[in-house]
Amino acid sequence: MKETLGREAAGYVKDGMTIGVGTGSTAFWFIAALGDLVKSGLACRAVPTSLETDRLLRQLKVPVISLADTDEIDLTIDGADEVDHQMQLIKGGGGALLREKMVAFSSRKMIIIADETKLVKKLGAYPLPVEVIPYGYRQVSLHIKSEFGIDPTLRIKDGNPLLTDNGHYIIDCPFGEINDAAALHIMLNNTPGVVDNGLFLNLADNALIGYNDGTVKLI
Ligand code: A5P
Repeated sequence: MKETLGREAAGYVKDGMTIGVGTGSTAFWFIAALGDLVKSGLACRAVPTSLETDRLLRQLKVPVISLADTDEIDLTIDGADEVDHQMQLIKGGGGALLREKMVAFSSRKMIIIADETKLVKKLGAYPLPVEVIPYGYRQVSLHIKSEFGIDPTLRIKDGNPLLTDNGHYIIDCPFGEINDAAALHIMLNNTPGVVDNGLFLNLADNALIGYNDGTVKLI
C-alpha cells in the first residue's frame, strides 16, 4: 500500500520542479519512486524535511538543496499521522515536524500520502507531538498537564530523550478529540519553550488515501 501511494504521488512530479520531500515510512516509497524518475532523466531539486530523508535522496542520486537555497517549493509530498476531511493534520510521529512544517509552509501545493486508518473525522486520537527546547521541557509538560488535565510523555529513544534534527525534545500529548485545533495551536506555540507542534492547519491541499483493497483515492 505504501509503495503504491509513493508511486501514485510521484505522478504529480513534473520536470523542473522543486519538490519538498517528507519523512517517514510512507514518504520512503515516494523517495524511491522519485529516485526512479531521476534515473530515467527527470530534472528536479529536492528539499528534504529531515536528515534521514536527505540521506535517502542522496543515496538515490536525487539532487538535494536546502530550504535556504530556494524562494519557493512547487510541490511537497509527505505522510501524516492523522488527516481529517478539511486537510488538517497531525504530524511528527517520526520527530520531523519542525522541518516538515517549514517546508510545507513554503510550498505552493502539498499532497499527503496516507493509508485509510489515518483518515479521521476529528483529529486527536493520535498523541500530538510538541517540539520543545530541552532546557524547558519539564515546565512545558507541567503547563500542558495543568491546562488540559492530560499526561504529556517525553519521547525516549534508546533510553535517552529523543533529540530531533534540530537538537530539541519531543513531548507527546494525548489530547483526545481536538475540538478547536486553531486555538490549541496558538495556545501551545505561545508557551515559552515550545518550538512548534504537530498540528498542520491550512497547509495541505489534498491527500492520496490508500485503501485496504489496493485502491487509492485523491481527496
Ligand atoms: C514524521 O515526523 C511524521 O510527520 C511522518 O510524516 C508521519 O509520522 C507519518 O509517518 P509514516 O508514513 O511512517 O506513518
